[in-house]
Amino acid sequence: MNFELTEEHLAVQQAARDFAQTELLPGVIERDEQQKFPAEQIKKMGELGFMAMMVDPKWGGGGMDTISYVLAMEEISKIDASASVCMSVNNSLVCWGLETYGTEEQKERYLRPLATGQAIGAFCLSEPEAGSDATSQQTTAFDQGDHYLLNGTKNWITNGNSASYYLVIAQTDVEKGHKGINAFIVDKSWEGVTVGKKEDKLGIRGSDTHSIMFQDVKVPKENRIGEDGFGFKFAMKVLSGGRIGIAAQALGIASGAYELALKYSKERKAFGKEIMHHQAIAFKLADMATEIEASRMLCLKAAWLKDQHLNYDRASAMAKLFASETAMKTTVEAVQVHGGYGFVKEYHVERLMRDAKITQIYEGTSEIQRVVISRDVLK
Ligand code: CAA
Repeated sequence: MNFELTEEHLAVQQAARDFAQTELLPGVIERDEQQKFPAEQIKKMGELGFMAMMVDPKWGGGGMDTISYVLAMEEISKIDASASVCMSVNNSLVCWGLETYGTEEQKERYLRPLATGQAIGAFCLSEPEAGSDATSQQTTAFDQGDHYLLNGTKNWITNGNSASYYLVIAQTDVEKGHKGINAFIVDKSWEGVTVGKKEDKLGIRGSDTHSIMFQDVKVPKENRIGEDGFGFKFAMKVLSGGRIGIAAQALGIASGAYELALKYSKERKAFGKEIMHHQAIAFKLADMATEIEASRMLCLKAAWLKDQHLNYDRASAMAKLFASETAMKTTVEAVQVHGGYGFVKEYHVERLMRDAKITQIYEGTSEIQRVVISRDVLK
């Protein structure tokens, strides 16, 4: 067993750290306040290869491993979780799903622009009445011969407005339950596609979260992903890998807050000494460092399993569960370490605390991760 990162891993980590400091940190507070999508920054991330890190270079991707992706996600998320959720969805859900299960034509037409930073993708599964219970899809796509007719509404779609292409999960045969679900590639510009208003959120306020409505949208047959009825398994497979990305996002939010708390506790004096010398603060920092390290190990283990083509369903659920709980706990404590300063925006930790909450909700709530883990433990 070797815990050392390679030179390539360290270079990716450093590149992401530098990018986050120089390109994402300036304006991050304002973007949060104004709910402004980091469009220019995401464009640069696409040009630098952060938006399709694991895609084969033949499709324009970075050809890197999942460990590199985790390292980059952590660094970007330390500074701007609104940018990193966009990165995560494009990498793990959209590009990975298309590269793994798409046809050559689908890859040429859709994966290439998504991998080269010319387009952004979104993953449309959640509905007003189907978030955790993903089999209860109300969106329908009925077979009309040479095309499917898509109707329904998807909720809380990350990259909802900025995406050019959506991967849409829909029920094609109600009688068949989850075996009657399919996944489709839908172009945002098609007739019948409407983007709803941007959600006014607690955290990741810069990210682009919208409802998407589909009314009699004609989806060509060649835009279905995989065999008829593969859509639910496609969604589960994609989400399992996606959980590694969100776990790494949670890890980054936690480690970003920890680094700020550590720095502050070395500078701030109270009762005649730097607050880090008070055991009340030192013990908080010790707990934060320990839980962050455990989260990092879980993220890297899940990434390693994926890179070895071994089953990572349980590992990714564990990483997401633990890292997201750590993100919430650590950010609350980081605010506490900062005292009154932690409660004001310019110290960043209150934003990280608000951003942390979503990591316990999206790509499967903490409860869903426990369902996945317990089913595996008990089988
Ligand atoms: N890989 C392959 N197949 C899988 C699978 C996996 N990881 N998980 C389940 N399946 C298969 C099962 O084997 C089963 O197939 P068979 O009938 O052929 O055996 C089928 O899928 C149904 O599985 P279950 O009976 O286990 O299904 P369930 O209804 O009990 O649900 C669940 C399982 C884990 C709770 C699932 O519904 C789930 O993960 N829900 C959460 C969905 C989610 O994460 N939503 C978030 C939206 S996306 C998002 O947030 C993106 C964003 O914007 C950031």
